[in-house]
Amino acid sequence: MSSVTDSLTVRDNRTGQEYEVPILDGAIKAADIGKIRSGEDEPGLAVYDPGFVNTASCRSSVTFIDGDKGILEYRGYPIEQLAEQSSFLEVAYLLVHGSLPSKDEYDQWVHNITYHTFVHENVKGFMEGFRYDAHPMGMLMASVGALSTFYPESRNISDADNRAIQIIRMIAKMPTLGAWSFRHAQGKPYVYPDNELSYTENFLSMLFKMSEPTYQADERIVKALDTLFILHADHEQNASANAVRAVGSTQVDPYSAVSAGIGALFGPLHGGANEAVLRMLKRIGNKSEIPAFIEGVKNGNERLMGFGHRVYKNYDPRAKIIKKACDDVFEVTGVNPLLEVAQELEKIALEDEYFVKRKLYPNVDFYSGLIYEALEFPPEMFTVLFAIGRTPGWLAQWLELTQDKEQKIARPKQIYTGSRGLTYTPTEQRWA
Ligand code: CMC
Repeated sequence: MSSVTDSLTVRDNRTGQEYEVPILDGAIKAADIGKIRSGEDEPGLAVYDPGFVNTASCRSSVTFIDGDKGILEYRGYPIEQLAEQSSFLEVAYLLVHGSLPSKDEYDQWVHNITYHTFVHENVKGFMEGFRYDAHPMGMLMASVGALSTFYPESRNISDADNRAIQIIRMIAKMPTLGAWSFRHAQGKPYVYPDNELSYTENFLSMLFKMSEPTYQADERIVKALDTLFILHADHEQNASANAVRAVGSTQVDPYSAVSAGIGALFGPLHGGANEAVLRMLKRIGNKSEIPAFIEGVKNGNERLMGFGHRVYKNYDPRAKIIKKACDDVFEVTGVNPLLEVAQELEKIALEDEYFVKRKLYPNVDFYSGLIYEALEFPPEMFTVLFAIGRTPGWLAQWLELTQDKEQKIARPKQIYTGSRGLTYTPTEQRWA
């Protein structure tokens, strides 16, 4: 941390005036830059940063990333340790509450989440109304947003107890809604939650149970899916967390804010990448087609999906853990034949100057799709799995936002490039 005495001296060459701009925590305040004016009546200087590449939008103590070193920590704990030793619900508690739970806190948390997995029957009713081929992400986004109508008190975001119960509800109901959007596309009856099962077992049960009284998932699959949820649980100010915060900054209820996050996650440059990776691998089909594909990427025809990251410029630590989870899952399901194509693609890309120069490495989505496919999920479901994992992170970010006195409604500036002061000509004259 820097002291407040650290500063920049900025000289405005338009006026010759000098400004002292304080540096705090490695950042300057955009508002201080706004004090720089070329004249009394001129607007203050703005900072132009499409995509917020170098703009901090908040202070946060949820997740730390060092992209150059490949470090990811939730509340200070390295992702490798959490993925290896913790469980998704414990990680969810850590993200939301800021510290690891005691035994009692954990038991209460698991109990609360388990007993809020059911949704109102009307939710089931409107989910059934979607078209037979509705994308499950569209269904998830709509049904999470619709929960705000079932819990109108959730709009009271200044009440801590109220916030806490909505957070429990959302983490609890996400697998139910996700599983039902999956069953819908298959024309299968929706399966109700089973309170005897763990969070991830219950999700698998709601996805795959048919007539058996209790769905028995393979322990290795449960562990792998739970680990995948942990890996996806938060990623600081990513596009969907930013969407949750931007919408949440209007003080709307958390269901509406998270629904916006789901919309952001849906896009192929964000969570939708895992679906895009699998489609890409299938299109490539076999190893002999890889050189031609890579040439196409280098010529700018398309992107190598599952490669590159805004923050990681060395490696994505999540991708390393997922590779190991791949082995565990394939032990149960048999090896996904596309694994060979993916591994060869990775090898060739990592040696190619185009990718090396741009610091493009496999990200979390490169291998996760292969696991999901081996688990018999259709590609449309991949991002739903990401969304379930990311929910505690969105909520931790939202919770932090609601208590941050420095936060304001998110409202960026623009650099206006359009016309000014035109005179409207009535249609009778323009169309004559
Ligand atoms: N394939 C080919 N070229 C790429 C790729 C890629 N996957 N990613 C970046 N580049 C090139 C890009 O064309 C640009 O080249 P140049 O400097 O010659 O114009 C350079 O690398 C920098 O790219 P950028 O678009 O400025 O980088 P960004 O930080 O804005 O984008 C990204 C990050 C993740 C959107 C991008 O790498 C990408 O589109 N990757 C593929 C989609 C993907 O896998 N997304 C999942 C991200 S991880 C999961 C998540 O958090 O959602």
